[in-house]
Amino acid sequence: MTSREFIEAGLEALDASVRDKQGDLRNIQLATVSPAGHPAVRTLVLRRLERSPPVAEMHSDARADKVRDIANDGRVMILAWSAEEHLQLRFEGTAVLHRDDDVARSCWDALSANARNTYGLRAASGTPIEDPEGLEHLPEQEQYEQFTVILVSLASVDILRLEPEGRQTRAIGRFTADGMTASWVAQ
Ligand SMILES: Cc1cc2nc3c(=O)[nH]c(=O)nc-3n(C[C@H](O)[C@H](O)[C@H](O)COP(=O)(O)O)c2cc1C
Repeated sequence: MTSREFIEAGLEALDASVRDKQGDLRNIQLATVSPAGHPAVRTLVLRRLERSPPVAEMHSDARADKVRDIANDGRVMILAWSAEEHLQLRFEGTAVLHRDDDVARSCWDALSANARNTYGLRAASGTPIEDPEGLEHLPEQEQYEQFTVILVSLASVDILRLEPEGRQTRAIGRFTADGMTASWVAQ
């Protein structure tokens, strides 16, 4: 297997998990840099992985800290790990935010009512509340106005697979205008 084939197989496993809504790879970790310069990381559902150009799509609420971080500094990392597949993928990229525009509208229109209710609570993300059972939603139009699509332009991917008997295989792919360059690296 070439390093390119190894990377393509890793990207395919991630894409399959996203498309089939199965497996643990689609629950990725998104790392941002806070305005104070601190790293911050949390789990998000990877909604879409585009290959050409390479883009990862996630959804959130405009008032969340991660959205504040990205508005200040778009540099992010995405980490996906599958215990089933013994596979880790790490992407470097640059995030942009879409709110109340064509991108946000088409993503919102494609969401189920349950999925929409993940966003647009009356209480802003991270603010103190009296009772976690009593959370209310904003009216639908205001809910939509808080809905934020995070699109990450992917620059590179670093894939590590754990093999039997403690061996590890690792390769790095750099996305270019023409496709991707790939190389094996030591773990
Ligand atoms: C499995 C899982 C999936 C999650 N998916 C999302 C998501 O798609 N979007 C989101 O904004 N938060 C999601 N969360 C919640 C975030 O991890 C986080 O707790 C919250 O968004 C606040 O993060 P922030 O203060 O860093 O912005 C998810 C949490 C878990 C455990």
